[in-house]
Amino acid sequence: MSSQPEPQITVLDAGGQYTHLIARRVRELGVYADVRPAETAAAELAGRKGVIISGGPASVYEDGSPKVDPGLFAAGPAVLGICYGQQLMAHLIDGGSVRQGEHGEYGFAALRIEQQAPLFEGLADEEPVWMSHRDQVDTPPPGFAVLASTGTCRVAAIGDAARRLYGVQFHPEVVHTPRGMRVLENFLFRVSGCLNDWDPRSRIAAIEEEIRQTAGNRNVFFFVSGGVDSSVAYRLCLRALGKDRVRGAYVDTGLMREGETAYVRDALGVDVVDANAQFLSALTGVTDPEQKRHIIGEQFVAVQDRVLNSGHYLDGDWILGQGTIYPDTIESGGTAKADVIKTHHNRVAGIQRLIDEGRIIEPLTPFYKDEVREAGREIGLPAELLDRHPFPGPGLAIRLLCTDSDAAVRPAEGGWILPVRSVGVQGDSRSYRPVLAFDEAPSAELLGRAVHAVNRASEVNRVVARCGGHTPVAGQSVRCASITGERLERLRRADAIVRDATRRSGFDAETWQFPVVLIPCGTADCPDSVVLRPIHSVDGMTAQAVLMPAVLLEEITAALLKVVGVCSVYYDLTHKPPATIEWE
Ligand code: XMP
Repeated sequence: MSSQPEPQITVLDAGGQYTHLIARRVRELGVYADVRPAETAAAELAGRKGVIISGGPASVYEDGSPKVDPGLFAAGPAVLGICYGQQLMAHLIDGGSVRQGEHGEYGFAALRIEQQAPLFEGLADEEPVWMSHRDQVDTPPPGFAVLASTGTCRVAAIGDAARRLYGVQFHPEVVHTPRGMRVLENFLFRVSGCLNDWDPRSRIAAIEEEIRQTAGNRNVFFFVSGGVDSSVAYRLCLRALGKDRVRGAYVDTGLMREGETAYVRDALGVDVVDANAQFLSALTGVTDPEQKRHIIGEQFVAVQDRVLNSGHYLDGDWILGQGTIYPDTIESGGTAKADVIKTHHNRVAGIQRLIDEGRIIEPLTPFYKDEVREAGREIGLPAELLDRHPFPGPGLAIRLLCTDSDAAVRPAEGGWILPVRSVGVQGDSRSYRPVLAFDEAPSAELLGRAVHAVNRASEVNRVVARCGGHTPVAGQSVRCASITGERLERLRRADAIVRDATRRSGFDAETWQFPVVLIPCGTADCPDSVVLRPIHSVDGMTAQAVLMPAVLLEEITAALLKVVGVCSVYYDLTHKPPATIEWE
């Protein structure tokens, strides 16, 4: 039994941001799905029960826009085209046509079902759906009926029941389409004839067997980060091979959150490599964010090299374990996570050698993150470890803003410009800009205003609200600051206060991530301020700022203002884009 099952469904990636989400949804419905490039040959997909063509930002008429093999429509599997996928079907099958739209349709729409079809079984005559498109199908190909429409989109769904080919202009995979899962379920079970047989927990025995086969008589070594993936991969190897044959090292960079090192050591039983002094001395006096990341990357390489060599892990008795998961193995079109691949990903020569020699074991490559969590739960890892928020590799260093010049705050847009440099995303590029601060508490009304303010004031890429503090914004300034033990400790304390309060109140479960950032803005006695950055997200690519209950915010603000050196508490009200989740 292989740990890599045969997919019943393939999602063809036409460059859309939801491609992986479609595959995850299919798996949630109990059907194993993989993701392949749009151009995959129809012959390679002949054994699938169904194929889903994803959405994508292109127009079918653009040169170089993703295309699928037209043979797919006669190859055997049922086909569902979503958004751009539907347009591609109409464009590629003789007799169909697509109209280029000028304005497009973005957001909620009311879908009117005009003709019953297996795809829409169980749906009401009218259903809310999520639309995001410019072009639309003009004429469906012969044999296709128009199944549904909206006020602005006459051909919102098409189908040819005899050939089992369907297209929908809306996005069934997103939560904003409330009955979207029913549409996918209908496609899987009523149209494609899939079997409901995928459960990541049932793969554990096969994965452990594969670990034993790959390892042979060699041992496995891991660098664990305390994150979900490396922890579950490490535990699976331990279960498969026993504790005498598996070793794990955790590098304590000194840039970790409070209590993190002890927690990981106790939860996983790994060796701790203390590199606090080495990282801090390499970062002394450095203020540029990308230079910080670079230095941290170099230090990681140096420590990992030292560990690999001193532990004899490079001799023939050892292979390297890694927590690589499914999306990391796919790099095509819009699914490549270019956005989250950061400069710290330097590769250790020793690790590269092990990879080149095939001495590597990656037990989680069939899984998405949620499935890793399910597997982790099944093998008894604590929920606290599995449900943690993502935490960046460079640690607190990228949440500790530095600057090499003093500057005053100045009035603008009814608020104040804080002359710190925070990163944002404009188009495809990251750029550093100052921040607009309002001297008022965060509220839903201010959240709405923030969106307009950041669009209007092009010199900023973020808006923050001051929740409280010792000095009004007008009396604060930005002063020279770098990474020091004292500032790191201040941030660590602030982060621990926020984590403790949000965990007790349950608010942490309502957020996808909650960075706590220290900025060098305050007064001579109290030189720093804390920024709270709770967000909602699906995958970190986009994010929405989220408000917290006023009572909790008051409690947190009061506790933070007792930390020595903290002048004010700010609340980040900016979505991504235009701001990134992290401040650097
Ligand atoms: P941004 O700030 O780009 O973050 O919106 C998106 C996600 O990526 C994480 N992140 C990093 N992770 N090394 C990492 O391992 C990094 O340098 C890094 N920078 C950002 C961030 O925490 C969020 O989850």
